[in-house]
Amino acid sequence: MEPTIEWIGDENGHLALLDQTLLPAERVVLEHNDLDGVIDSIRRLAVRGAPAIGIAAGFAVLIGVRERQPSGEGAFRTALDEVVDIVSQARPTAVNLTWAAERMRRIGHATPSLSALLTEAQAIHDEDVALCRAMGEVGAELIQPNTTVLTHCNAGRLATGGDGTALAVIFAAHDKGTRFRVIADETRPLLQGSRLTALELSEAGIPVDVIADSAAAGLIARGEVDLILTGADRVAANGDAANKVGTYGLSLAAKEHGIPMYVVAPVSTFDLSVATGADIPIEDRDPAEVLSLGGQRIAAPGVGARNPAFDITPAAHLNGLITDRGLIRPITTENVKAIVGDSR
Ligand code: MRU
Repeated sequence: MEPTIEWIGDENGHLALLDQTLLPAERVVLEHNDLDGVIDSIRRLAVRGAPAIGIAAGFAVLIGVRERQPSGEGAFRTALDEVVDIVSQARPTAVNLTWAAERMRRIGHATPSLSALLTEAQAIHDEDVALCRAMGEVGAELIQPNTTVLTHCNAGRLATGGDGTALAVIFAAHDKGTRFRVIADETRPLLQGSRLTALELSEAGIPVDVIADSAAAGLIARGEVDLILTGADRVAANGDAANKVGTYGLSLAAKEHGIPMYVVAPVSTFDLSVATGADIPIEDRDPAEVLSLGGQRIAAPGVGARNPAFDITPAAHLNGLITDRGLIRPITTENVKAIVGDSR
């Protein structure tokens, strides 16, 4: 598959994004030279998934400062602050966005040049590849042979710079020779599970079945799921995790039926400035996404919709957090701080 995200050229180059809204039917690579274009791609989920959004944010800052053509260091820093603030507001829940934008602010204030911004944005990208690999290594042993793993949304190569978060664990276990099946929630309303996760897994030769989201609890109750792995968009200091809407419901079913559930997230997804999940902002998206399917309106005229894009899974419902720095188990504020405390 084409790279999810790639910078082409030097600081005068452009950002190439695989348009995920069209997958799996079409593989179109978008070329961005302007800040508005990148922000639009983030908002309409052409690029999505918390780590990938963070990587896009890094390059977006470079593009935004470049198009303002600041002359002199003072003007550069002013333009940088303006652009970082714009980029940080593109989507509210994934903390990787502000984490990356603030990294760009720090480096650009210290070294006000486009080449320094490019080096930092590329470092954010390269580091994410390594974070994904590390999460895969940490989590792979949790997947036992001949079991069934359920995942939600897309936490794979399309959501990161590398192999993914939850899917990195799945790919790593598969690479070690463990054979197992995966159930992918289709993930209404935008179908990241059926369109993206199933695509990634089938291309990797990992058996995958897509289910309607509403089938998950019943399959868990019938003992047809052995392990649940999801990603996260933001993890609070106490280990509560915001992830794609529907993850909380999975955690309730998992807890009720004693099925282990882990959230897989790199340190860049932790936000120790928020005490609990209650403080994490939840993105409300366009009701039209719920009222239509495949671009076709399915609800009667005049019907409204609610479209929260994320929900909060309490740490108490999770068996652990798989990070690039190791497994946090049990999840306590102290254990979270001990593993990720110095990362931000
Ligand atoms: O709205 P999206 O598609 O950006 O939501 C993405 C998710 O919820 C993922 O599960 C999360 O970002 C984990 S990414 C590896």
